[in-house]
Amino acid sequence: MSIGTSPPRRDGLEKLSGRALYADDFRPDGLLYGATVRSDRAHAKILSIERDPAFDWSDVTVVTAKDLPGPNIVTLMTDDQPILADGITRHVTEPIALVAAPTRERALAAANAVKITYEDLPSLFDPLLAEGHDVRIYGDDNVFKRLHIQHGVRTDTTSHLIRGRYRTGLQEQLYIEPQSMIASPRADGGFTVRGSMQCPYYVDRAVKRMLGHDRLNVVQAVTGGGFGGKEEYPSMLACHVVLLAQATGRPVKITYGRGEDLRATTKRHPAIIDLATLVSPEGELLELHARLWMDGGAYHTLSTVVLSRAILHVGGPYRCPFFDLEGTVVATNTPPNGAFRGFGAPQAQWAMERHMDRIARELGIDPLELRWRNLYREGDVTATGQALQDPGAFAVLRAAEAAAAAPVVRKTVRPGVENAELREGRGIAMAWHGCGFTGNGEAKIRGKVALEVRGSEVAVLSSSTDIGQGTETIFPMIVADTLGISMDRVFNTEHDTGIVPDSGPTVASRTAMVVGGTCEKAAQQLLGRLRKEHGEGDFDSLLQRWRAADRGLLRVEETYEVDASVVWDPETYQGDAYPTFGWSCVIVDLRVDVDTGEVIYDRVVTATDVGKALSPVLAEGQIEGGTLQALGWATAEEVVLDARGCMRNDRLTNYIIPTALDAPEFVTALVEIPFAGGPFGAKGIGEIPMDAPAAAVAQAIERAVGARLDSLPMTPERVLAAMEIR
Ligand code: MOS
Repeated sequence: MSIGTSPPRRDGLEKLSGRALYADDFRPDGLLYGATVRSDRAHAKILSIERDPAFDWSDVTVVTAKDLPGPNIVTLMTDDQPILADGITRHVTEPIALVAAPTRERALAAANAVKITYEDLPSLFDPLLAEGHDVRIYGDDNVFKRLHIQHGVRTDTTSHLIRGRYRTGLQEQLYIEPQSMIASPRADGGFTVRGSMQCPYYVDRAVKRMLGHDRLNVVQAVTGGGFGGKEEYPSMLACHVVLLAQATGRPVKITYGRGEDLRATTKRHPAIIDLATLVSPEGELLELHARLWMDGGAYHTLSTVVLSRAILHVGGPYRCPFFDLEGTVVATNTPPNGAFRGFGAPQAQWAMERHMDRIARELGIDPLELRWRNLYREGDVTATGQALQDPGAFAVLRAAEAAAAAPVVRKTVRPGVENAELREGRGIAMAWHGCGFTGNGEAKIRGKVALEVRGSEVAVLSSSTDIGQGTETIFPMIVADTLGISMDRVFNTEHDTGIVPDSGPTVASRTAMVVGGTCEKAAQQLLGRLRKEHGEGDFDSLLQRWRAADRGLLRVEETYEVDASVVWDPETYQGDAYPTFGWSCVIVDLRVDVDTGEVIYDRVVTATDVGKALSPVLAEGQIEGGTLQALGWATAEEVVLDARGCMRNDRLTNYIIPTALDAPEFVTALVEIPFAGGPFGAKGIGEIPMDAPAAAVAQAIERAVGARLDSLPMTPERVLAAMEIR
């Protein structure tokens, strides 16, 4: 059995040795380099697009919206976002024209030599003013989506009303490798697209619609991280390179520089969350009222589903007899925000965890004790009326407390800080996270996986990509163990839409749990088929009999079917919001430098319900990486926009993320409360690490220096300011 062990990851050696081929490593004969001409206005009419007559255009091709073969739409959920702006631009950095040239330098120079003239329009940046504003960006009222959930019975108990407002800022996914895509013309007049992406079939659908024909295949290149940033954005970039390849008849590649990537691509939605609770004198939650606003930026992207996940998680892992939850995501003239690990849940739970601390403070109850009193218990019902089967909140809390009992070994501070006055603080926070798509999402997608026996090996065909999380290793483990063979004999094929079925996108903490589960079922189907024909026996003896009978290609395809007991009403938002939930508890030990406001992370204990750790090393990697990303969101990462809504700190010298030196000691406890619907009991774990850490940090800062912070990020400047007003 390989499940539960940690075999070396399949992609490890290639990546370590530098042999792995990322999108930018592909240089086919005749390759041209593309570049993007972008808007430098937030909101404007585009009056003209002209070529600078002083520039040598002899080896350059220019493409604008006029050259599109089909609809000018980046196909995703709504049809609002153009592939190239036509007549109007709604955010700074919006693509207006494309160029292709023999070298990257020539392409960038040519892009600079395309001159756009504009007539500025009034622009809108404040999400709280967006609804119904005179400046129209989307629909009649700039509202992408409003959601309202009401559930339960209002209280008539004596209670305290406690209110608070909480905020979060933009965050950049900061995948290691910037966006990169290459399109090559095929002999049949179609194209092969290869690139850095999470979701080959999203790209496939978007480009086919633009082309108006199906002569296309999309292949994932080795991808240097996604974190949601390569969920929807690659569809636009793929349309761009295909347009240029069509115009030139040659392969065309676009790889963004880091600055361009930071300025132009999607970020985490900023949020403003007002919470009002009625609480009994003993600290029991009686009513939770939430009003949440998100800034979607200029186009919808995935904002509706980000909002939905935010609203469904805003109550945190706490029981409450009455919920009244409303969320609104609006349009502003900033670059569109989109998918980012956690998908709204981190913003919502930051607010709820800070609110729990506020309740604790106002009622004079210990924050940990307040959580004990309110955590979900078995059989409790959520805001959507979902009865919880196996709430793991107490289990992760106990596991985290046990792991945090060991004394903290304080980190050596860097030279120059030895004499600083550092104050110690510990904070604890909790979270839950729905695994897989929300509501009837999985029922709609019906993700597919195929298995093919090739010689003595078994090929797994899926569109679930490995973006660092381990798909290339986990799927072979699941299939091998189900078939009862060594995992060395099972491998994933390339994720090429020309050969793999659509397993659904690589998102939403669904790959191991949902698609991995489909891999398991596919392997069972394969065994079942052999047994039906050839009786009992192990996989190899059955395979021998199949061969002896000369039965040809052995292939099965399996579709994910949602458990019939799962009921969801998308109209009322009542029912089973997720197949299951994961649970987490985080205990942070840190020190605050009282002169600078800097936070030094000493130790972070996490206890996470993973259902089953398929590969403990990969699971720990997911959790520790996600936790560090959450610590960055908590105290370091701040996107600063200029007056046009353009990211000003577009470098890694001024957009600060935690480095190895900033990382704490991680103590990572894996709690296994198996989910019957997941392979070997596994739940999704990709996103939950993002949910709880920031609030634990805020509580620890409050304990250390008394500063109360309800807005992210808690940069040193903000910590210092909060210390002064405490
Ligand atoms: Mo994701 S944020 O579900 O790629």
